[in-house]
Amino acid sequence: MDIFDALLQSHEQQRAICKRLLSAIGEPEQRRQVLDELKVEMAAHETAEERTFYVPLFAHDETVDAARHGIAEHHEMDEMVEDLEQADPGSPEWLESIGKLVQKLEHHLQEEEEKFFPQAREVLSRGQQKALGEPYREEHERLAAKEEEEQERAQQH
Ligand SMILES: [Fe+2]
Repeated sequence: MDIFDALLQSHEQQRAICKRLLSAIGEPEQRRQVLDELKVEMAAHETAEERTFYVPLFAHDETVDAARHGIAEHHEMDEMVEDLEQADPGSPEWLESIGKLVQKLEHHLQEEEEKFFPQAREVLSRGQQKALGEPYREEHERLAAKEEEEQERAQQH
């Protein structure tokens, strides 16, 4: 599995969680739970992607802007998730913010797949593309486990 397949797998996972989040709209309890799940997946994906995909792209003039843009969007989405955590999951504001987050995330994933991936395929050698898949998956798995643990600890307090 090369880096693009590995990233696409994470993207699909995020899309599936977003779908569940939107369909849990009637149940505030469940909404909070699915948001926690999305938060774990997004956090693990963003950091693993930055470390294993964006960092090598910073080395090339052709992809430095794309990498910078991607990281800026990760940061924007993190702030949206933080705001959501402060809001009441039963409130209309919460629903509005969820809608915005899902929209932003879908835009981000689509932009990566349609714009950044083709650019990255041009600058990363085939060997590099293959070699980066496993480190991404390992890093993603490690970070997701860590994030889940942190969430559990926070819920116990
Ligand atoms: Fe991303």
